[in-house]
Amino acid sequence: MTTAMTETRQGGTGGRSAVAARAREVVKAYGSGETRVVALDRVDVDIHRGRFTAIMGPSGSGKSTLMHCLAGLDTVTSGHIHLDDTEITGLKDKKLTQLRRDNIGFIFQAFNLLPTLNALENITLPMDIAGRKPDAQWLARVVDTVGLAGRLKHRPTELSGGQQQRVAVARALASRPQIIFGDEPTGNLDSRAGAEVLGFLRQSVDELGQTIVMVTHDPVAASYADRVIFLADGRIVDEMANPSAEQVLDRMKDFDARGRTS
Ligand SMILES: Nc1ncnc2c1ncn2[C@@H]1O[C@H](COP(=O)(O)OP(=O)(O)O)[C@@H](O)[C@H]1O
Ligand SMILES: [Mg+2]
Repeated sequence: MTTAMTETRQGGTGGRSAVAARAREVVKAYGSGETRVVALDRVDVDIHRGRFTAIMGPSGSGKSTLMHCLAGLDTVTSGHIHLDDTEITGLKDKKLTQLRRDNIGFIFQAFNLLPTLNALENITLPMDIAGRKPDAQWLARVVDTVGLAGRLKHRPTELSGGQQQRVAVARALASRPQIIFGDEPTGNLDSRAGAEVLGFLRQSVDELGQTIVMVTHDPVAASYADRVIFLADGRIVDEMANPSAEQVLDRMKDFDARGRTS
């Protein structure tokens, strides 16, 4: 266990590429003619394995679209998306569904837990549906990291918002996906519950070697990430390593100021 953790800390990738996902020249346009909106305008990005990446930018800048395209939830108009060594652009629906199921975890704003199942059943549900047996050792580690060991028999209504979202995070981690994508995963939580979930996401990167991509508009949430990518008008306009909330806030203010003068 210690070895695995050391390996993770040193960025060991188990022989896999250091890039978990990449976008090249990605354009995503909605509609056509006069109503055409270019949500992504020739985006190039590498998502580093075993790192926590935040995507930020003003409302409508293309954050959700970029995440959906990287995760194969939406098709691109042109350009290429690779997940590990697999090009997902152009994959047929069935293959894409399978690839998503086997490689990607999602955490959304709404926790989407099933009310009739307890926490543990919710965590293993996607694997149960896929007919896959969870790796018992891994599951125990995830549950331990979540810090909900005493609450696994509780149903969602018996858990706080923060605890419910931690169950949703554990559910995403349980199958050891290559990447976890979150669109404002703490958007529905108060700041304390949000901090709890963000701390857990951070821990899953540091201790379990998880790769995470999170869309957020909150500088504090972004400060948990290793790297922040800034989008404006569908383009990557900046990025920041090891960001502090203050640095991110300053950068966001800059966008606002420019928005007002242009
Ligand atoms: N399904 C859609 N149909 C038409 N336009 C869309 C659709 N989804 C997003 N857009 C447009 O694409 C742009 C980027 O949207 P989005 O990625 O949701 O931005 P963000 O997540 O940064 O707020 C916006 O101008 C938005 O109105
Ligand atoms: Mg969005």
